[in-house]
Amino acid sequence: MHLLSAGLLGSLLFAGLLSQVSSSQHTVFGLFGETLEIPCNIETKHAEDIIMTKWKYDKGEGVFGNMLVKKAGQNVSVNAEDEYKSRVSLASNSSLLLSEARMRDQRAFTCMVVSEEDIKEVTVNVVIYKMPLGLEVSEKAEELEIGKKTKLGKCFAKDANPAVNITWLKNNKPLVQNEQGVDVQNSVNVDPMTGLSTSTSVLMYTAQKEDTDAQFSCSTEHSMGQKFSSSSERFAITYSTENVMLQVIAPEPLIEGSNVTLKCEADGNPPPTSFNFYLKGNEDPVIVQNDNTYTITNVSRDSSGEYKCSLVDNPTMEASKDITVNYLDIHLSPVGSVEKKAGEALAVNLKIDASGKYKVSWTKNNVKVDKEPKFTKLMYSDAGLYEYEVTMGALTEKASLELVVQGAPVITQLHKQRSEDGRNKVLICEAEGSPKPAVTWSINGTQSNEGSFINGKVTHKITVVPKANLSVSCTVYNDYGMDTRIINVSSIFEEVRMDKRDQSEDGDQTKLVVGVVVGLLVAALVIGLAYWIYMRKSKQGSWKTGEKENGSSEEEKKLEEKVEENSQKAEV
Ligand SMILES: *[C@@H]1O[C@H](CO)[C@@H](O)[C@H](O)[C@H]1NC(C)=O
Ligand SMILES: *[C@@H]1O[C@H](CO)[C@@H](O)[C@H](O)[C@H]1NC(C)=O
Ligand SMILES: *[C@@H]1O[C@H](CO)[C@@H](O)[C@H](O)[C@H]1NC(C)=O
Ligand SMILES: *[C@@H]1O[C@H](CO)[C@@H](O)[C@H](O)[C@H]1NC(C)=O
Ligand SMILES: *[C@@H]1O[C@H](CO)[C@@H](O)[C@H](O)[C@H]1NC(C)=O
Ligand SMILES: *[C@@H]1O[C@H](CO)[C@@H](O)[C@H](O)[C@H]1NC(C)=O
Ligand SMILES: *[C@@H]1O[C@H](CO)[C@@H](O)[C@H](O)[C@H]1NC(C)=O
Ligand SMILES: *[C@@H]1O[C@H](CO)[C@@H](O)[C@H](O)[C@H]1NC(C)=O
Repeated sequence: MHLLSAGLLGSLLFAGLLSQVSSSQHTVFGLFGETLEIPCNIETKHAEDIIMTKWKYDKGEGVFGNMLVKKAGQNVSVNAEDEYKSRVSLASNSSLLLSEARMRDQRAFTCMVVSEEDIKEVTVNVVIYKMPLGLEVSEKAEELEIGKKTKLGKCFAKDANPAVNITWLKNNKPLVQNEQGVDVQNSVNVDPMTGLSTSTSVLMYTAQKEDTDAQFSCSTEHSMGQKFSSSSERFAITYSTENVMLQVIAPEPLIEGSNVTLKCEADGNPPPTSFNFYLKGNEDPVIVQNDNTYTITNVSRDSSGEYKCSLVDNPTMEASKDITVNYLDIHLSPVGSVEKKAGEALAVNLKIDASGKYKVSWTKNNVKVDKEPKFTKLMYSDAGLYEYEVTMGALTEKASLELVVQGAPVITQLHKQRSEDGRNKVLICEAEGSPKPAVTWSINGTQSNEGSFINGKVTHKITVVPKANLSVSCTVYNDYGMDTRIINVSSIFEEVRMDKRDQSEDGDQTKLVVGVVVGLLVAALVIGLAYWIYMRKSKQGSWKTGEKENGSSEEEKKLEEKVEENSQKAEV
């Protein structure tokens, strides 16, 4: 039985090889480490017609290795003698199942199906894929110096099949080989044991200033479409200083007594840690370690000048700034309270020492005056509080002078007036002097309230009832001296009679008379005008009576007389 079937099989096999074996080729893809199914795509009309299914593999150089055989009605017989022995099995649909696929499984497997009609063969090429174990960057650069080609890192994709191509990315954009500053060296290493490829890519990179904060990574795309990326790496970009800047931190405006901080800034990375500060006019620098500032306290006008800073290790890299300390000194002489005698001269001197252009303004008793006050001959009205204000930009200085003008009083006017009711006389004594002069009269009378004492002027009034012609004196005095004047006052009864002459003598009364005359003239004019209008209207109007016309002409005469009388009075 065994022999027979073997003989039959052998003859069939022989025949098949000669003419009836139909073969075809396929490719299947398997994943490394997983169970690989190699299908046997042979159509058989009836499964029960199958006499035998056999799997073998190509060992190379035309040599085949056995794997397994399944004969009808029998259990599968694994006839492999190598590593496949333990890994192969057959699915009910004749697929060859290969556990733990490995790289060596990338070969041709042949399935042969023998049925009663014919022998069919199918050869299946196996390709094993293996994803890399992720991407990793090693041998990272500690820092990238601008302009210097540096090995940024080594990216590797371990144990893949097929070998992957590694792409370097900067800020997620691919870096292209031979692009400026980019030099990529790729290599692939195949593990002789596993047959898996490890791709390695070394990026030699020449950094530029804009690479500060750039993110570098590497990535790859496997033939099966899966993408892998390494984590992103940042690198410290170092570069030597190209520019030094000196910053002056000071209050605005900078005045004496302020503190000024010099801040030296260099654009290198890492930034320099120590600096030279050259203080005004000083050749020898102050060296500041681990700081880039130097503070000058309590500056004065002498601090104005040029300041510099430089790198300690490269003093030619320097920067300078001019510092100007503003100052405004004013000195007023005399200052404070000043007492002077009337008539004297007072020289006021305002000395100004300033670092720039300034403006002076003056006020007297808080009121602005346009011109600088000058006192060639002091008057009582010159007394007051003088304030001098000097401004220079935001700086303002003030000085003040309280001027007191003193002197013996002088009577400026002594005159008399008739009281309103005409029964009394009012004597008015006006005087100037400071301190405020006291006023006395040589006659008793009713004193009115004293007027105010402004600009050294005092006015004193007394109301008297002279029973006879009198000579009245007004005396003013203070600590500096006195003054007296006499005025003749006629008896009030005399004056009633002497009215007319008094009127022409007395200035005020003359004014009064002139006023009356002018008033009368105006009245006469108005009446005349009214009369003239009336006459015209009367002549036009037919209803007017002759009586009225007569009456008005009489009135006209009277008016004319009155006007004449008034003009005579005015002549007096
Ligand atoms: C096939 O294998 C099973 C279990 O392994 C066994 O019971 C059976 O007898 C075998 N058949 C033949 C024909 O050897
Ligand atoms: C053959 O059988 C296996 C397991 O029994 C199954 O996974 C596979 O899909 C089948 N293949 C075909 C081509 O039918
Ligand atoms: C890798 O790069 C080479 C050459 O550029 C190319 O031929 C190959 O197809 C690439 N492989 C993959 C997996 O992208
Ligand atoms: C200047 O600096 C000194 C010392 O640091 C400090 O005592 C003083 O108050 C500062 N002066 C001003 C005007 O800030
Ligand atoms: C500031 O300097 C002036 C002289 O330049 C000095 O008189 C004054 O005492 C100093 N002030 C301080 C707080 O050191
Ligand atoms: C003024 O009146 C006082 C008393 O009231 C008197 O003693 C004095 O003599 C009078 N003087 C004159 C000038 O009339
Ligand atoms: C008073 O003075 C007037 C002139 O001002 C004079 O006419 C008159 O006679 C005098 N009367 C007496 C009583 O002296
Ligand atoms: C005042 O009258 C006297 C004489 O009564 C006379 O001598 C004197 O000149 C008069 N004074 C004035 C200012 O009129």
